[in-house]
Amino acid sequence: MDLKDLPPSPSAADAASVVGASPPHESARLHVTGRAAYTDDLPEPAGTLHAALGLSPLAHGRIEGLDLTRLTALPGVVAVFTAADIPGENNVGPIVHDDPILARDTVSYLGQPVFAVVADTRDAARRAAALAKDVLQLSPLPAQLDLRAAHAAGQHVVPSMHLSRSSHPGGVAGAIAAAPHRLQGRFSLGGQEQFYLEGQISLAIPQDDGGLKVHCSTQHPSEMQALIAHALQLGNHAVQVECRRMGGGFGGKESQSALFACVAALAARRLGRPVKLRLDRDDDFLITGRRHGFEFDWEVGFDDDGRVLGVEVTMLGQAGHSADLSPPVLTRAICHFDNAYWLPDVAIHGHLPRTNTQSNTAFRGFGGPQGALAIEVILDDIARHLGQDPFAVRQANWYGTAEDGRNHHITPYLQAVEDNIIDPLTQALARDARYAERRTAVQAFNAGSPWLKKGLALTPVKFGISFNVNHYNQAGALVHVYLDGTVLVNHGGTEMGQGLNTKVAQVVAHELGLPLAQVRVSATDTSKVANTSATAASTGADLNGKAAQDAARQVRARLAGVAAQAWGVEPDTVRFAAGQVLGPEGQQMAFGALVQQAYGARVQLWSDGYYATPGLHWDRETLTGKPFFYFAYGAAVAEVLLDTLTGEWKLLQADLLHDVGRSLNPALDIGQVEGGFVQGMGWLTSEELVWHPQSGKLLTHAPSTYKIPTANDVPEAFNTRLFDNANVADSIHRSKAVGEPPLLLGFSVFLALRDAVAACGQPGCLPPLRAPATPEALLSAIQAVRQTA
Ligand code: MTE
Ligand code: MOS
Repeated sequence: MDLKDLPPSPSAADAASVVGASPPHESARLHVTGRAAYTDDLPEPAGTLHAALGLSPLAHGRIEGLDLTRLTALPGVVAVFTAADIPGENNVGPIVHDDPILARDTVSYLGQPVFAVVADTRDAARRAAALAKDVLQLSPLPAQLDLRAAHAAGQHVVPSMHLSRSSHPGGVAGAIAAAPHRLQGRFSLGGQEQFYLEGQISLAIPQDDGGLKVHCSTQHPSEMQALIAHALQLGNHAVQVECRRMGGGFGGKESQSALFACVAALAARRLGRPVKLRLDRDDDFLITGRRHGFEFDWEVGFDDDGRVLGVEVTMLGQAGHSADLSPPVLTRAICHFDNAYWLPDVAIHGHLPRTNTQSNTAFRGFGGPQGALAIEVILDDIARHLGQDPFAVRQANWYGTAEDGRNHHITPYLQAVEDNIIDPLTQALARDARYAERRTAVQAFNAGSPWLKKGLALTPVKFGISFNVNHYNQAGALVHVYLDGTVLVNHGGTEMGQGLNTKVAQVVAHELGLPLAQVRVSATDTSKVANTSATAASTGADLNGKAAQDAARQVRARLAGVAAQAWGVEPDTVRFAAGQVLGPEGQQMAFGALVQQAYGARVQLWSDGYYATPGLHWDRETLTGKPFFYFAYGAAVAEVLLDTLTGEWKLLQADLLHDVGRSLNPALDIGQVEGGFVQGMGWLTSEELVWHPQSGKLLTHAPSTYKIPTANDVPEAFNTRLFDNANVADSIHRSKAVGEPPLLLGFSVFLALRDAVAACGQPGCLPPLRAPATPEALLSAIQAVRQTA
């Protein structure tokens, strides 16, 4: 099919409505026609070599030797590199320097890269690398594969974290003990593979002056640049990292693209030739980490209405063999245990046991989903114990507002919840999704159906927006206005499908009063905007949108000055709209004409822009402060039908209502909400990670055994709406971040399944359902509640 045969993309009709309109994703047509170029699609420079990694066959062992000659003798093999070939620091650990690029003396998980083979073809490199178990001499060491055992043995990647708040004289334990009702429990929650469709990849190209240019599929080009430079003993200025787009990142390319970037760069530098390293899917699973699985132990005290009076939780997050991003992931888990609820007395203990498995990392929500699901399960148990509707118990526990005078709007980490809309939002959803009627209908259905059971749940989301690490909350941008009036924007964020470049282009078009077609965003490049943050924590549009707005406003101010002088009016009376520049008395000139005039008058037509989120502070010792600029809210209702004989189930209907503030682009935002929900549902139902209990091999390392949701799993009745609400914080056009929060909407499916399982037991039974709720997990929970019946 030729591009000209496609219908033209709808152009933003009116420049004034560019922000808040729904122009399609800037690459939508390229995506659907298969023409979007990802790193592997870039033309390979002549002489490009290919690398593949030799992986440890043991979960823990000492490296005694490596028979390199056997590999170098193979056809097509050009070189083999080991840790000894790295001139600088052998580390890709983003926080703690505990993560080697290539293992040196010991291997600490099965799948850890030990050497890199470089060959003429990818096939030759992979064939040689596959001989790892034959050429590596390892002596086995005892492997720790169990999270609870590692914790009991005191093995952790970083010191543990504690957050508590209590007004009870007996402390949190006293508050729980004094409560009219008490429950305690355990909850086990699996991890999740990012399963970006484009795997990890880097192409490193030596430059004529000894520098390196690296094309890398990464959410964090600046960190790739710094880690490559460190490993190769180069200045950061000698390394340029570029990323046009990723085929998905989902957190998996925030820190964990670094190992591959460093290996490609090392080989390219040593050989003086371009080197590409592209993983196959199985290796990607075996080498890289993913969402942390968690284990929770909890105890709660509550009143007759299900109101929590005191709660204590211990959470163990599966860090894996090194720290990676686990410390901030755990911090976010702790700071989201409250979800939407006022917890008067609360103690949270967070630990990161070290196991001989892949090092876990960022994944959409960054620990927040894990922390929040724990309180949702606890509230579900409280409701079942009291024989109340879980939604009613949730409502009884909502955060208050600053205005209601109860002071029930302060989080455990002491940030005030300033715009609590969870009650009106969930009420609107309950009404529109007819929650009460459907609850009655589900009960009636279950009463007459012994084997098929329905379940229903309404769950809320409150998600804090900003990086918990303050200094990441900054961004830069460049806006170039060319003499024909077209505009090129570059910013520090990366495009991974979420539509960031489209949103930033909308912001710039809005400032300059231009149709969107006149604004183009170019590839993320460390040689353009320096020292950028990862595109993560959902802050891409918040940070880079503001920085680009700042740059565009500076250019606009200069242009307004030129027009004002020409027309003899005040600069602040000059307006920019629909490609025209307008004066207060009907003066008018095309944007391009004004640009020409300004150039003639020697006025700078490009600008940088910068933004740093104001008002944030955080005390890492006490885990208190104001870590978040604002909160994003949402809620979902899910209804499931469960076959209690097979554990198979179907999502019958999902109703989502999500708060994105004043949307920059409703179509993109709805896409994020739907995608986040489905991804969250996959995490909690079908996506199961299984490691071999003795060898520590990840057995679910391909789509054949690891099941992500597909189009078939999306319910036929899928209603997604955006909640009408302007951000109270001064965010970009009062919008709210949307990347991660909707993932938590998937909770509703898990809790609906829990509801269906509970329908198999006596009233008051507490389903011991672990996540993911696979058919096996469902059957075992059904069996358990039937035994109590
Ligand atoms: N959407 C798509 N299509 N692909 C992705 O990789 N990553 C998610 C989310 N939505 C992702 C996505 C994650 S983990 C984050 S943090 C945000 O997008 C990052 O982009 P943003 O900050 O621009 O929202
Ligand atoms: Mo997203 S987990 O912050 O990359």
